Amino acid sequence: MNIHVDVNRIIAELDQLAGFSGGEPPGVTRIVFTPDDMRARGFLKAKFAEAGLDVREDPVGNTFARWHGTARDLPAIATGSHMDAIPNSGRFDGTVGVLGGLEAIRALQTAGYQPRRSIELVLFTSEEPTRFGLGCLGSRLLAGVLAPEQASLLRDSEGSTLDEVRSAAGFHGNLEEVKLPEGYYEAFLELHIEQGPSLEREGIALGVVTDIAAPASLRIAIEGEGGHAGAVLMPERRDALTAAAELILGVESAALSTGVMDTVATTGICDVFPGAVNSVPSRVKLEIDVRDVEAERRNVVLGLVEQAARTIADKRGVKVHTELLNADPPARCAQFIINALVQSCAKEKYTHKEMISRAYHDSLFMARVTPVGMLFIPCRNGVSHRPDEYSAPESIGDGARVLAHALADLAA
Ligand code: HGY
Ligand code: MN
Ligand code: MN
Repeated sequence: MNIHVDVNRIIAELDQLAGFSGGEPPGVTRIVFTPDDMRARGFLKAKFAEAGLDVREDPVGNTFARWHGTARDLPAIATGSHMDAIPNSGRFDGTVGVLGGLEAIRALQTAGYQPRRSIELVLFTSEEPTRFGLGCLGSRLLAGVLAPEQASLLRDSEGSTLDEVRSAAGFHGNLEEVKLPEGYYEAFLELHIEQGPSLEREGIALGVVTDIAAPASLRIAIEGEGGHAGAVLMPERRDALTAAAELILGVESAALSTGVMDTVATTGICDVFPGAVNSVPSRVKLEIDVRDVEAERRNVVLGLVEQAARTIADKRGVKVHTELLNADPPARCAQFIINALVQSCAKEKYTHKEMISRAYHDSLFMARVTPVGMLFIPCRNGVSHRPDEYSAPESIGDGARVLAHALADLAA
């Protein structure tokens, strides 16, 4: 089947979507349930409707756009991704999977293809952990990985609960209704930028993902004793920030201690109180992200970090409180979807390689309720979560084209 993807249309839509942002261009900031997010949702829902898709939203804002197949009772084939963006980041993370998925559907419609199984485009709510401290909120609820009563306890930095924020954004209804029924989908495929350098470095057009790494995150509160920066002498100090500094380096050495490149750890948040140059820091909040393709090895690193926190607390006379926010298993992609993606690359004579996803994605949680597959396109210098995140129009077109072939094969 000849698939014609309108690359200019995807690029124009990505540019429009990037305009719904609170960040300084070219950076994009789009936090879940903010006005920018709501405008972006409105823009996308209109695009889904224009393509003749049947659009619905669930109580947490996951959005579903269905192309009904001739066999409506069969489990559908789904594709999609997210469009929320961490502060001052890029315009391709997630959005390529949403608009690339839409374009794949439109290309199949133009080619006169009629799906037997319905094809459903999914826009996941809050894939990024920015607002509520937990990534993949929408897909965790869809997969039943996060209990609704747990989700309702989540609060943002202003102290507003998820329920307060989502209903203010117009999403009512009971979170119990979000979980997908057993066997709802036959397969879920996600098109995404690689967020790493290997495809570009090796000159390979597409990545077919075999495994998605296992993410975990910790919140560590350190409490020391504040005081006047001039008056409190060094031996009397219980400085929360110097303790945090030692722990941050401990996080780095814990990851390095496995001696395996697949182990990574990052302290991405360090909030200092009171944050005055002439006041000894009394409190620090750290948020730490630890990942590995092997959950057991990742858990060893989590243990080392918690041990380091206790040792530093004893040595420096500060208090530490550690909270494990999430520690998720890795996901294996389904072989039949890997095969469909590999065959689709071959149809278009694209080079491809099988690879691991070191970033997590909604596919990680969709894998708990349906077979999943992921297709990567190269991004310049492997950069992501930065304003200079970039994927070439040609790569985006390649991804959408191969996705279209795979969807057509699986929905036939
Ligand atoms: O952090 C991640 O891996 C994803 O980009 N949210
Ligand atoms: Mn991201
Ligand atoms: Mn993403």
